[in-house]
Amino acid sequence: MSKLGVFDVSVRYGKVPALTDVSLQIEEGERVFISGPNGAGKSSLLKAICGAVPTTHGRIEIGGMLVAGRPPEAIARLGMTMVPEGRDIFGTLTVEENLRVGTGIRRDRDAIESDIDEIYENFPILGERRQANAGALSGGQQQMLAIGRGLMTNPKVMMVDEPSLGLAPNIVDQVYETLIRLQKDRGLTLVIVEQSSARAARVGGRMVLLRGGTVVDEGDAAEFAERDLLKEAYFGQSAEEPA
Ligand SMILES: Nc1ncnc2c1ncn2[C@@H]1O[C@H](COP(=O)(O)OP(=O)(O)OP(=O)(O)O)[C@@H](O)[C@H]1O
Ligand SMILES: [Mg+2]
Repeated sequence: MSKLGVFDVSVRYGKVPALTDVSLQIEEGERVFISGPNGAGKSSLLKAICGAVPTTHGRIEIGGMLVAGRPPEAIARLGMTMVPEGRDIFGTLTVEENLRVGTGIRRDRDAIESDIDEIYENFPILGERRQANAGALSGGQQQMLAIGRGLMTNPKVMMVDEPSLGLAPNIVDQVYETLIRLQKDRGLTLVIVEQSSARAARVGGRMVLLRGGTVVDEGDAAEFAERDLLKEAYFGQSAEEPA
């Protein structure tokens, strides 16, 4: 059974179509990159999957369970979490308070403390700075905090919207190393919005290319990067630019 199924899904904001009849199957434990230019609908796809925006057409299933009509908390209980674009860190709250923000949906209150400890083991810098205001963290540390907060709902599927945004390349390396380690340790399914095909190729996985709200191409990330390099050779476009 496919872990995550998106079938003919459309999303509109008033009259603005953001996604039109998008279909996508993601297997348990898979790593999938969603790429495409600005406004392609990448964030809208992630938001539709986690219930943050309603769909106007189609259906979404997680582990065979229909998502439609469930509030975001109920979808989170099905094992879905999203680390949003821009990270949505509460700058005036401490690191630890940020980690506790999403835990209201949990019924296993006793496990929260041990999960917080586990996150500090995974991210020692967050442990060291647990009482610091999150706004005082570096961009890379804030991205780690956003990922750590996403883990607090014990997800099976983690979607991360543009983790590279605004970070220096060596910090992006660290973020991806962390995501891959978490995927191995927890058997997570990872869905990552990533504009750089070169980066996706280095990390490895499947690439889904969106443009104008539809899936225009799909395949191995390394093959996409190779094609981009060819494009660069012929047209002088940079492989680091959005596909
Ligand atoms: N809240 C909103 N209200 C109205 N239109 C929106 C809203 N959010 C997104 N859109 C529009 O929907 C379309 C898809 O946007 P979306 O944010 O999903 O794209 P994206 O691929 O994530 O872009 P980016 O690379 O800039 O993050 C765009 O035309 C965008 O202008
Ligand atoms: Mg976006």
